[in-house]
Amino acid sequence: MRIDIITVSPELLESPFNHSIIKRAKEKGLAEIYLHDLREFGLGNYRQIDDTQFGGGAGMVLMIEPIANCIKNLQKQRIYDEIIYMTPDAKTLNQSTANTLSLKENILILTGHYKGVDQRIRDLYITKEISIGDYVLTGGELAAAVLVDAVVRLIPGVIGDEQSALTDSFQDNLLSPPVYTRPSNYEGHVVPDILLSGNFPKIEDWRSDKAYERTQQIRPDLLDDHS
Ligand code: ADE
Repeated sequence: MRIDIITVSPELLESPFNHSIIKRAKEKGLAEIYLHDLREFGLGNYRQIDDTQFGGGAGMVLMIEPIANCIKNLQKQRIYDEIIYMTPDAKTLNQSTANTLSLKENILILTGHYKGVDQRIRDLYITKEISIGDYVLTGGELAAAVLVDAVVRLIPGVIGDEQSALTDSFQDNLLSPPVYTRPSNYEGHVVPDILLSGNFPKIEDWRSDKAYERTQQIRPDLLDDHS
């Protein structure tokens, strides 16, 4: 999978993509991630990328031309399955969206800043808009990092233990059951007997029950969509 990201702060995204699982995915050739500095497409000597909004109001808006020129330049080189705009005024990212995106070949992500982007960019180029939650970040870069992490770890071969991504919280709209490791007794706080029993069908039943219980307590809204 190839992911291109248009940003006004490429340096903000360099570190998250050069560590851990994403780094491993890149080294294995399973994911390629390219950052594009919007400023390089800025207008005039000052490489202007934003301007005040028509109709008045506080905050600068990212202009249409620099973004359109950057997108058009990338589209000359390949076809994108999705052009995604990270913005708080969109549907919230969930596991199902991450699963769908992990199957794509080429994704282009646009990160916003300031007051957002000129609406015509959204109308003309964007095929999907994603928020990572009901709060406002300074820019879309951290949101893009979250999206890329959630998607890249699902690409087959990225996580060593295939089973592990499939049993994550949310894969079946349930939160994960509790997990334990050694020691089985920590200062009198003991691990549930069932997990030490070696009876794997029973352990699976216990895990399903706990996942359901935990979901009911913490995120009952997820049970509405539980299949
Ligand atoms: N940009 C600013 N806030 C955001 C959010 N919550 N999700 C996605 N992009 C954003």
